[in-house]
Amino acid sequence: MEDKLILAIESSCDETSAAVLLGAKVLSNEVVTQLQHAQYGGVVPEIASRAHQTMITAVVQAALKTAGRELRDLDVIAVTQGPGLMGSLLVGISFAKSLSLALEIPLVGVNHMQAHILAHFADDCENKPSFPFLNLTVSGGHTQLVVVHSPTRMEVVGETIDDAGGEAFDKAAKVLGLDYPGGPLLDKMAQTGDAKKFSFPIPKVEGLNFSFSGLKTSLLYFLRDNQKLNQNFIEEERANLCASFQHTVVTYLLRQIQRGLTSTKTNQIAICGGVSANSELRKQLTEYGVNNGVEVFIPQFKYCTDNAAMIGIAAHYLMEANKISDLKMVPLSRYPL
Ligand code: KG4
Ligand code: ZN
Repeated sequence: MEDKLILAIESSCDETSAAVLLGAKVLSNEVVTQLQHAQYGGVVPEIASRAHQTMITAVVQAALKTAGRELRDLDVIAVTQGPGLMGSLLVGISFAKSLSLALEIPLVGVNHMQAHILAHFADDCENKPSFPFLNLTVSGGHTQLVVVHSPTRMEVVGETIDDAGGEAFDKAAKVLGLDYPGGPLLDKMAQTGDAKKFSFPIPKVEGLNFSFSGLKTSLLYFLRDNQKLNQNFIEEERANLCASFQHTVVTYLLRQIQRGLTSTKTNQIAICGGVSANSELRKQLTEYGVNNGVEVFIPQFKYCTDNAAMIGIAAHYLMEANKISDLKMVPLSRYPL
């Protein structure tokens, strides 16, 4: 099949993004992150959908301009169908439907979690995994171990029973006095700290599932107890606390990866989602691969957090499998793989 010119739109949470792709070749990938949520310490759904409405036209225009293409050049419109915030998804989907109708071109609805994984197949990713492979997705809303059989057939073999990994980073960052979203800030602060200074218990969950709520609570109790002895404990130890907490989360993620590789008899591990931007995870996983003869696939930073390029790549594969949507498509706040 000849490569199609795809306009992809992502608006599932707090990033408004549009990308233009020729097949899996990314010609542009514009991402606007809504900073207005920082003052509330988390994403406010109503504010998010309004901000998408305000930004979406300009973001799509920017993506077309960067790619040097016009609306009339497009062959396909791809859009995130879910999972995500209902109001936010609705903005992207309504916009995509209007374009599909006006330009008389097909519409492809994309599963956001599949798209995170398929970001590994962007044309500018040097090494691409081969099927089947194991993938760890860790984002603000999900933590999943997935066996990826093909671009359109994926099987969840482990997932979080409470908080997501990104949420654990964000909540820890909040109690440590960092701004929202705390994950990247905690990562940065950890770089000047001693990861061995404090130790937190690795969650005890059987099999390939994950749990982060106990870890969060143990950090809270640890801070409370130490603040009784020294009011300035967090301020004085912030970098060491960040490094130690991050070390615990990463050690835990690696243990689950190791279990996953053993039980699925795979020797390829890919990671994706916002937390795959974490420097400690990238470092430890790379070392783990070298020491254990496991092939490791880590996305470029631009494909870790939410972006429309990954939606376009997923749409490219969906079209190859003839999975096209129509104007009856509805947003899905939950959308299993
Ligand atoms: O995939 P993503 O952009 O959005 C969702 O679909 O959730 O992931 C966002 C999550 C947030 O929790 C954010 O704090 C976390 O990814 N994150 C990080 C880092 N960069 C983003 N967590 C730890 N270290 C980072 N460097
Ligand atoms: Zn995401």
